[in-house]
Amino acid sequence: MTEPRPALPIDPAEAAALSAAVAALRGQLQAEAVAAGRSPEAVRLLLATKTQPAARIAAALSGGHRLIGENRAQELRDKAPALAGLAPEWHFIGPLQKNKIKYVVGTATLIHSVDSLELGAAIAAEAQRRAPGGVQDVLLQVNIGREPTKAGAPPEACLALAAALSALPGLRLRGLMAIPPEEAAPAAARAWFDAVAALAAAGRAQGLALTELSMGMSGDHAQAIAAGATLVRVGTAIFGARAPFPAVADGAARR
Ligand SMILES: Cc1ncc(COP(=O)(O)O)c(C=O)c1O
Repeated sequence: MTEPRPALPIDPAEAAALSAAVAALRGQLQAEAVAAGRSPEAVRLLLATKTQPAARIAAALSGGHRLIGENRAQELRDKAPALAGLAPEWHFIGPLQKNKIKYVVGTATLIHSVDSLELGAAIAAEAQRRAPGGVQDVLLQVNIGREPTKAGAPPEACLALAAALSALPGLRLRGLMAIPPEEAAPAAARAWFDAVAALAAAGRAQGLALTELSMGMSGDHAQAIAAGATLVRVGTAIFGARAPFPAVADGAARR
């Protein structure tokens, strides 16, 4: 068997810098898990690759990291073929319109951003359309701060919604995802992450399979890990500041 080869030319200096940054962050996340009394293996790093060109993503993956996530379905559609040689594990982490589901199911192993039964049902239908018995793994996105500008189901609706999503044949609900309100001090984010973890624990007590907690970004991963995050989504800390998006209709540029 031949090894998969990168599909893109990678600038060696950039590849070295980005893959060193990824390795350093992975080490930092492990240390944060240990400091929180958790296993260093308990937390996975997802690189948030929104707006990053495929060549930079390839550079970030050049040291062997595999888990990456896109916010916009079209970016996933366009970048996945270019990066296929590096065999990344793609997740989808942004708002998803029903007409874009076809770009995501079949490529993303986990969709973090399901926040309604309607969306969950449409994803399940696409998974089953693609393959008999097909199942898509998903997380339920919680709008933990009840912010009008943010996606996610309100916390009080989450457990009933989680139960309804779990009953759909083409869907496997794995946990919760949240983007808490921006706090001036990262320490203040801890209470929001604890609230997400408490919601998941309440769901597990009811028999729901809410084991994954996707929470924590560049500025607050330590707090999220202390509260029990299993997936942290980091963009800026690795890739630098993103160029601002032009306004888009699907609301993906909210952050
Ligand atoms: C849902 C989501 N998670 C995580 C991130 C990464 O955030 P940061 O750049 O602060 O690490 C982004 C931004 O791309 C995002 O939209």
